[in-house]
Amino acid sequence: MKKKLKFTAVVTLLVGSLFAQAPVEMKIALDAPTGEISPSMWGVFFEDINLGADGGIYAELVKNRSFEFDSPLMGWKQLGELPEGAMLIINDGKRKGNRRSLRINKKTDSIIGLQNEGFRGMGIKQGENYEFSLLYRQISPGLKLHVELVDSANNVLSEGLLPLQDGNGWQSGSVNFSAKATNASAKLNVWFHGTGTVQVDMLSLFPHDTWKGRKKGLRKDMVQILDDMKPGFLRFPGGCIVEGRDLATRFQWKKTVGPIQERELIINRWNTEFSQRLTPDYFQSFGLGFYEYFLLSEDIGAEPVPILNCGMACQFNTGEVVPLDELDEYVQDALDLIEFANGAVETPWGKVRAEMGHPAPFNLKMLGVGNENWGPQYVERLAIFKDILRQKHPEIQIIASSGTGPDGERFEYLDEKLRAMKIDIIDEHYYRPPAWFLSGAARYDDYDRSGSKIFAGEYASHTTRPNGPGRSTWEAALSEAAFMTGLERNGDVVQMASYAPLFGHVDGWQWSPDLIWVDNLNVYGTPSYHVQKLFSLHKGNDIIPMKYAGENVTGIDGLYASSVYDKQTKELIVKFVNYNSSLKSVNFHLDSKKKISGEAAKITLANVDLNVSNSIEQPLAIQPVTKTASYNGNMINETFAPYSFTVLRIPVR
Ligand code: AHR
Repeated sequence: MKKKLKFTAVVTLLVGSLFAQAPVEMKIALDAPTGEISPSMWGVFFEDINLGADGGIYAELVKNRSFEFDSPLMGWKQLGELPEGAMLIINDGKRKGNRRSLRINKKTDSIIGLQNEGFRGMGIKQGENYEFSLLYRQISPGLKLHVELVDSANNVLSEGLLPLQDGNGWQSGSVNFSAKATNASAKLNVWFHGTGTVQVDMLSLFPHDTWKGRKKGLRKDMVQILDDMKPGFLRFPGGCIVEGRDLATRFQWKKTVGPIQERELIINRWNTEFSQRLTPDYFQSFGLGFYEYFLLSEDIGAEPVPILNCGMACQFNTGEVVPLDELDEYVQDALDLIEFANGAVETPWGKVRAEMGHPAPFNLKMLGVGNENWGPQYVERLAIFKDILRQKHPEIQIIASSGTGPDGERFEYLDEKLRAMKIDIIDEHYYRPPAWFLSGAARYDDYDRSGSKIFAGEYASHTTRPNGPGRSTWEAALSEAAFMTGLERNGDVVQMASYAPLFGHVDGWQWSPDLIWVDNLNVYGTPSYHVQKLFSLHKGNDIIPMKYAGENVTGIDGLYASSVYDKQTKELIVKFVNYNSSLKSVNFHLDSKKKISGEAAKITLANVDLNVSNSIEQPLAIQPVTKTASYNGNMINETFAPYSFTVLRIPVR
């Protein structure tokens, strides 16, 4: 039977090439759905890479605000004539997570100060309000602070005065001011007037206008562009950052919650990862910690999907492992995280959540154990986590990694082991060239339906690497769209999917391509972003079979397609990729008791130049264009532009 269908496909291809303009015929069995799309199917994967968190979505503008970087004054410059000993780094060791502060000891009237360079400068917007704040401890009162924002020519963009209160212990101070001009690379000057001695710490500058107006919150435009996607889940915090180069620098969620001045800063693993993209000033302040990740998930309507360290450091780096009989602390972290997210306010970790401002649970349903780990050493550790999690939290779905790639010995080994362990969701990663994505559109068509579900947890089509913003091309995005039709068609087994990485700062990236690029003032979505967004916004519910010459539409004639039915709006949604340099005309025959009723929407992303990409200067070179379309009866004739991805929303009754 299969052979016969293949023969039909070949004939269709021959006929198609003889009469290039003749429409190809496709069948849509609207009344015979094959499964349901998971409500959290299309999500986002956040990792603090490419200045994603510090210098990115976390709106703090001061770099190294607490002098905890390896070099305590990195990012700072001393201003004025400083006598020896006028500024000293104090390490008092008594303050949780924050050992260092700066002591200013000023005996004369000369003006001295400090300048912070921000993260590749500070993005300041005309008319917006900013708050400078700090912690300080008076030792010999008498100093006053004068704070300025300046441009590269030292023109003052904004300023404020901050008198310091008398008193013995650590206290906080703040001053607000608004900016007179917009500047992408402003700097902060903090001048000390008068005489006296004071110890300062947590020197901080935030815009007032953050996401949801939260004080010291997140960069509004960066959250907005995520919210616009209506992502089904937020995977965090990584990625390799979960593993750390060694176990000492692994991501430990407990150190990222509670008062921000107590969150212990560590080096960001992407600081040194790529010799060609060294980023010596990349650290993790954890201003964006696990509480904020959960809150962000809630804000954008996404299921939180935390990934935890399984007792192994990155196997590309040290590959350190925790002895099996010493894994308790790691497993306890997982149990405590579930309590932090879901526990009653009377429980120890539920109480921490409540005290941070969220008494209601975050409703965590899934938890990842390990990222890109492999080998028997992973399986042994995962087994310990699994047994305890199943026993104490059977309601939580466990996500486990199938390694670094989608095939080969490591993958095969893990895939078999994880299925045998009845792991709920297997996390597959693929960073591959466009040709791999095109040829992989049928990857999941024959996957086992009875066992573990799949999380395409990190993927991106890579034209060349490393490359930078300009290489997030239409070619890459279109090949992803083709592949994603395969994910959608197999939505009964593929439960979730997320592109990776999410953000890249044009002046501070380590890894490329990325989904969304930013500078200090702007944000734009790559062509891949628009593809992801279209899949997410037009997710639908039921998976509807679509056939071309009796086969799934997985590349025959350069065409890729899938379809779903949206129960709420009663629309058939067709996703269609034309990976050809010519127009394609298609007749879709609707096999259904339902009839087309009313105007359809046709949303298209297209460009004949596969090398085109969006940029800060041209953020919308590739963007969706929406038109209306009218069809009658049960046959839809539609024409698809060369190198295009189209979503059709067709009302049916
Ligand atoms: O997304 C960038 C990195 O790719 C992730 O940190 C890691 O999981 C993968 O290797």
